[in-house]
Amino acid sequence: MAVAGSRIDPAEAERVVAEARRVLTGNRQSGTSDWDGMRYDFVCPSPTHYPFQWFWDSAFHAIALLHVDPELSKQELRCLMQGAQPDGFVGHMLLWEREAHAHWLQHEYSIRLGHPYFTATIQPPVVARAVERIFEATGDKAFVRDMLPPMARFFDWLARVRDPDDDGLIALIQPDESGLDASPKYDKAMGIPHEPPTDTLPALRRSMQRLFTAYKDAAPEAQPLLDVFLFEDVMMNSIYADGLRALAKLSRAVGAPDAERFARASKRTLGALMRKCWDEEAGLFWDLSGTAEEQAKVLTFTSLFPLILPDLDARVAKRLVRDHLLNEREFWLPYPVPSVAASEVTFDPSWQTKTTWRGPTWVNVNWYLYWGLRAHGFDDVASELARRTVAMQSRGGIREFYDPFTAEGYGATDFGWSCLSLDLIAAEQSG
Ligand code: GLC
Repeated sequence: MAVAGSRIDPAEAERVVAEARRVLTGNRQSGTSDWDGMRYDFVCPSPTHYPFQWFWDSAFHAIALLHVDPELSKQELRCLMQGAQPDGFVGHMLLWEREAHAHWLQHEYSIRLGHPYFTATIQPPVVARAVERIFEATGDKAFVRDMLPPMARFFDWLARVRDPDDDGLIALIQPDESGLDASPKYDKAMGIPHEPPTDTLPALRRSMQRLFTAYKDAAPEAQPLLDVFLFEDVMMNSIYADGLRALAKLSRAVGAPDAERFARASKRTLGALMRKCWDEEAGLFWDLSGTAEEQAKVLTFTSLFPLILPDLDARVAKRLVRDHLLNEREFWLPYPVPSVAASEVTFDPSWQTKTTWRGPTWVNVNWYLYWGLRAHGFDDVASELARRTVAMQSRGGIREFYDPFTAEGYGATDFGWSCLSLDLIAAEQSG
C-alpha cells in the first residue's frame, strides 16, 4: 500500500514530549540498597506496576534520557551494570528495594530468583545499542571503556551458556526471557489456550511454575539441555546480532580488543537467522522451538525483526516491509505495529486476555523498526510510523501498550520505555 509520509503534528508532539519528560522524572528511584549497601539511581518502568530495575527497559530508558540529559543516560546504565556478575550473567530484574515492594514479588510476578536481589532470568541485550547511542551523542570514550568489559562478559555468557548447539543462535528457556512474556507464539510450547481469554493468564502462570520446578536443581549450563522450553527467538537473536555489531564498533572506537571477534559473531548470527529461520515462500522469519528446531509459525511482529540489522539483505528487507509490515490484513493497522498480526486467531487487540504481547502496539517495537526502516532506505514508511506512534500516544497517554485500532492505552500507567517517542520526534525533526 502507499504510505502518506506526512509529518508529525506539532501540537501532538508537544503534548507527548511534555508527558514523556514528566514520566522520566517521576519514575526515578534512588537511594542505598540493603544489597551490599550499593547506591541505585534509575528510572523504573512504572511506579504503580513495575518498581524494580529491568534489563531491557533500562537500556530503552537510557536512549530516551538522551533527550533530557545524557548524564542521566550514563547513570541509568552504570546502575544497571552494578548487577553484572563475575561469570558475566546479568539478571533481568535488579531488586534494589525488595522489601518495600515485596508484595509484587510474592503475588504478582512469575519469577525465578538467582540471588536475593536479582532473578535467574535474562532479557534481550539492548544495552550495547544504548551504549552505542550514548557514545554517538556524547563522544565519551571513558564511559565506553567502563561499559565494554561487563557487556562483553554478558555476550560471552550468552554464547557459552545459551547456545548449546553452537549454531550462533542463542536460546530462551522461559518465555519472559525475550521480554515477550505471554506472546501467543509460545502458546503451543507452553500449553496455553487463547479461549476463553480469561484462561490464558492462569494457564501461563501454571506453565511457568512447571518450568521453574524443572530448572530448580540444574546448573545454568544444564537448563537449556532439559528442553522443557527452548526457543531460538528471532527478536532475541536480532537484538543479539545487533548488540555484537555495536560491541565491535565501540571496541574499535576506543581501541579495545575483540572488535573483529564481535563483528564475526554478529555476521554468524545473521547467517544462522537466514539459514534456519527465513521462510522464502512466506517472506518471513520464524522462531525455532525445542532442540528439534521446529519453526513456530505464529505471525507476530518478531517475524519482521531482522529488519533492525543494517546488514540484512536488501531483497529480504523489501519483502518484510512490502509484503508484511505494510499489509493491512497483518500489521499496517491504524496504529501500527500490533504485537500479533491481525490475521492470527490469537490476535487480541483490545486486551481481553489481560496479559501482555497478544495484539496491542508497543513503543519499543516501533522504535526499533523505525531505525531499521531508515537503515534500509524506507524513510517514508519510517516517518509515517513515527507520525502514527505520536498520534497514538497523544490520544492514549504514556501507557504500557495501545489498542492498534483506537489508540486506547492499556496496562501500566506512566510506562518508561513508551518515552522512546522522544527519540522518534527528535529524529523526525532533524530530518
Ligand atoms: C512486562 C514486559 C517486559 C518488561 C516488564 C517491565 O513484563 O512484558 O518485557 O520488561 O514488563 O516493564
